[in-house]
Amino acid sequence: MAERFATWRAGGTGSPELEWVEDLLSLLPARPDILELGCGGAAEPTLRMASRGRLTGVDISEEQLRRARERCPGATFVHADMTTVQFDPASFDAVVSLYAFNHIPRADLPKLIKCIVGWLRPDGYLLATFGMSGAEGIEDNWLGVPMFFASYSSAENTAFLAETGLGVARDEVSVIVEPGTGEARFQWILARKP
Ligand SMILES: C[S@@+](CC[C@H](N)C(=O)[O-])C[C@H]1O[C@@H](n2cnc3c(N)ncnc32)[C@H](O)[C@@H]1O
Repeated sequence: MAERFATWRAGGTGSPELEWVEDLLSLLPARPDILELGCGGAAEPTLRMASRGRLTGVDISEEQLRRARERCPGATFVHADMTTVQFDPASFDAVVSLYAFNHIPRADLPKLIKCIVGWLRPDGYLLATFGMSGAEGIEDNWLGVPMFFASYSSAENTAFLAETGLGVARDEVSVIVEPGTGEARFQWILARKP
């Protein structure tokens, strides 16, 4: 469904992704090392980050990675499950995940955030979108396939981020309009490792 997803994504409106990515990039050193989790087929935010730093993208879908490598030849792409992938401690200036954490089982997300904190250098940043429905389950037909979704509430997302020791710099809810499915809310968080 990667092709359908790319067309569907391009038809959406209201995503503040490039504004948040620019905000992040303004806080990072020159040519930062950036890890993107659930990078998909390299949409505009991925291209923007890869043009300004050394980007490593991780995705569980081989087809999305094939597309990402084609669109973004300068970056490194890794086929892996973000809940089990491993990186050296303190190897990134930023970890970014856009519209992907809402596909991670609730039991795994706080553990993943703890790993991310370990992969970040001091003064490194996490930029991520979180689902906020508080639900978990499979939607039978999402762009033609069964799709797993899971989220905490926005208050829970903020709380477990704070518990990891990250300092939350921005925490805002944005409403995007998705083609066919209408309005969807995501919580955007930019947080700094002390
Ligand atoms: C809704 S798409 C968003 C893709 C991209 N970030 C974007 O904004 O277009 C979610 C992506 O997360 C990936 N994904 C889902 N679960 C994953 C996991 N456990 N590990 C790595 N990638 C995962 C999917 O393959 C998909 O490419």
